[in-house]
Amino acid sequence: MNSKEYMEQTEQYVLHTYNRFPVVLKEGHGVYLTDADGNDYLDFGAGIAVFALGYGNEAYNDALKAQVDQLIHTSNLYYNVPLAEAAKKLVEASGMDKVFFTNSGTEAIEGAIKAARKYAFLKDGGTDHEIIAMRHSFHGRSIGALSVTGNPHYREAFQPLMGGVKFADFNDLASVKSQVTDKTCAIILETVQGEGGIYPADPEFLQGIKAICEEKDILLILDEIQCGMGRTGSYFAWQQYGVKPDIMTCAKALGCGVPVGAFVLNEKVAGASLVPGDHGTTYGGNPLACAAVSKVFDLFEEQQIVKHVQDIAPYLEQKLDELVSRYDCLSLRRGKGLMQGVVVTGRPVGEIVKKALEQRLIVLSAGSDVLRFVPPLVIEKEDVDEMIRRLERALA
Ligand SMILES: Cc1ncc(COP(=O)(O)O)c(C=O)c1O
Repeated sequence: MNSKEYMEQTEQYVLHTYNRFPVVLKEGHGVYLTDADGNDYLDFGAGIAVFALGYGNEAYNDALKAQVDQLIHTSNLYYNVPLAEAAKKLVEASGMDKVFFTNSGTEAIEGAIKAARKYAFLKDGGTDHEIIAMRHSFHGRSIGALSVTGNPHYREAFQPLMGGVKFADFNDLASVKSQVTDKTCAIILETVQGEGGIYPADPEFLQGIKAICEEKDILLILDEIQCGMGRTGSYFAWQQYGVKPDIMTCAKALGCGVPVGAFVLNEKVAGASLVPGDHGTTYGGNPLACAAVSKVFDLFEEQQIVKHVQDIAPYLEQKLDELVSRYDCLSLRRGKGLMQGVVVTGRPVGEIVKKALEQRLIVLSAGSDVLRFVPPLVIEKEDVDEMIRRLERALA
């Protein structure tokens, strides 16, 4: 079948919840993807900040193949080897204490919310605890995750959502403080807001929130699903702020394409929240997903991925800044590491994303007016140069 036929078949059988771009992606090598008609695309989207290692990484693929041949699934009624290995590596990389593996980022958020509520319940026996979340945040599409997602457009049709959630303005400490009550059990935010338009937290903001949390025994939940796993130049973005969360969520690049997420707890929460019977999942922590996580950590170390991000990100920033200075329709760049956004003015951002695709370049949008660049973490300078060349053709 050709691309057109695959697209028609998909539209016939798959529920239409996405306006997909008219491309059928078939294989990938390094930072390039190839469609079903043989066209190559330079990928600065990485499957929405997922494929950190680049496509076709032989060691990663071999580890998955070996695990497929050995054991794919066990359930959580038993122990399995990759679970033990992956958990140790995630705990060591984060400096936190205990991990629960999920199947997606959204489920990691659900688990984080449950852990926070249970912690508060054990503290005072009440069940009316509040969570403060941020406007323009994105945490996922399930009812719990939507409840802490600060975008009315995603929420509107699905009310009533989970109760006890208040919203504050990101990077506005006074706004957060004004929402704190004696029932607040947690504050949840992305260390770098992704879908909302690539906004890194200001250090004073995050440090200020941490101080409030410590003073009032409120739990700090940092969502590192998009900005974590090396993307900003450290394993987790909060590691650059001198602020440690009580609970962290991660997913996306954690498995580099195999669906897996996790919430990670410090000892304080781990020791006084979820116990057997409180939370579970059939697939979470299964050998295949955990073999992927384990191999991702090994390869991050072997290939010095975090160091590479630190080295290459200034070049991407410089090239994007130059681009912004050359085009009236681009007004500003912001971001951290290989998570960058460029604000588009006077033109719909979706139009530029579409034109870029015609030039065989994958970039994403974020929010209503931001071009988002979240490439595989293995990009080199020549990939940045090629991206700029293709994007300039699209802008023209
Ligand atoms: C910051 C953040 N949190 C949560 C999610 C939800 O993750 P998933 O799509 O894996 O369920 C996303 C997805 O884009 C995200 O960017």
